[in-house]
Amino acid sequence: MKRLALVICALMLSFLSGCMPYVRQTPEEETTLITVGFSQVGAESDWRVANTESMRESLSEENGFELLYDNARQKQENQFKAIRTFIQQDVDYIVLAPVTETGWESVLEEARAAGIPVIIVDRQVEVDDPSLYTSWVGSNFRKTADAAIEWLSGQLKADGREDAVQILHLQGTPGSTAQLQRSAALEAGVAAHAGWTIAAQLNGDFTQAKAYEETIAYLRSNPAPDVVYCENDNMCFGVMQALDERGVAYGDGGVTLISFDAGRTALSYCKDGKIGLCAECNPLHGPRVRALIEQLARGETPEKLSYMPEALFTAGTLTAELLESRVY
Ligand code: AHR
Repeated sequence: MKRLALVICALMLSFLSGCMPYVRQTPEEETTLITVGFSQVGAESDWRVANTESMRESLSEENGFELLYDNARQKQENQFKAIRTFIQQDVDYIVLAPVTETGWESVLEEARAAGIPVIIVDRQVEVDDPSLYTSWVGSNFRKTADAAIEWLSGQLKADGREDAVQILHLQGTPGSTAQLQRSAALEAGVAAHAGWTIAAQLNGDFTQAKAYEETIAYLRSNPAPDVVYCENDNMCFGVMQALDERGVAYGDGGVTLISFDAGRTALSYCKDGKIGLCAECNPLHGPRVRALIEQLARGETPEKLSYMPEALFTAGTLTAELLESRVY
């Protein structure tokens, strides 16, 4: 009887493991984890930290993965090194969050030669041969930024402030998709509105500290702008810090602030009327990356491009429930 129970248990275990395609079985029936090398841009923003956390949560040991994480400190050379190390370690998959769009051909070819599929997350890579990567997961940066510009246009019109609009532009890391697309949307908006001018473009590198330094230096020798277009939340916080220091009012009745990411802190400023618009950039890529890897492990061909769901938020659309339920 005892013997029969053991046999049934063994059969059930082997059936269950057959239902989990992402767990490789050794001949000894020991489970091994899927190894994933993740080359992350850095930890420059709250968004980035949330993105890393989402990846760690989804690609956890409990879910059958061993995640090798590398923080590139916003340097492409560090990403090259990390990817080459992952290749030497013979990982099963590589996930790359590229700092900028260009310069990836050689290292992606090396990964392909080693037979390691590469999934790109967040920013895109500009390569002649798109088969150098398996899939991409991220935001529709241009669509969201165009929607933000449309909101600004409607807002200025409603306030009767359409003429001589001076816009200060805080840009993210030059050459990154988030910077290129958000900047292009603003530049197209300015070209389409005779009364709009970009007063200055400052590089804040997606960090609060740099945005603060650039903005405070700008405000020392220039008048306050009508609008500040910040290409991420942390740069918006740096701008707010500088405006506070110079005694410049913002929000309702003051400088209009637009921010990208829509993290919880920015959303609460938005609810209080300090930030006019929060345009969402969803960092929760982990579950999609996990699903992609599982598809690949089953021998399926996943979608090439996968866009995250995103929205725009203003004080009028934000609710306390939404703020409470925000995980980043
Ligand atoms: O590429 C996404 C951008 O990078 C986010 O908007 C920003 O916060 C991050 O650092």
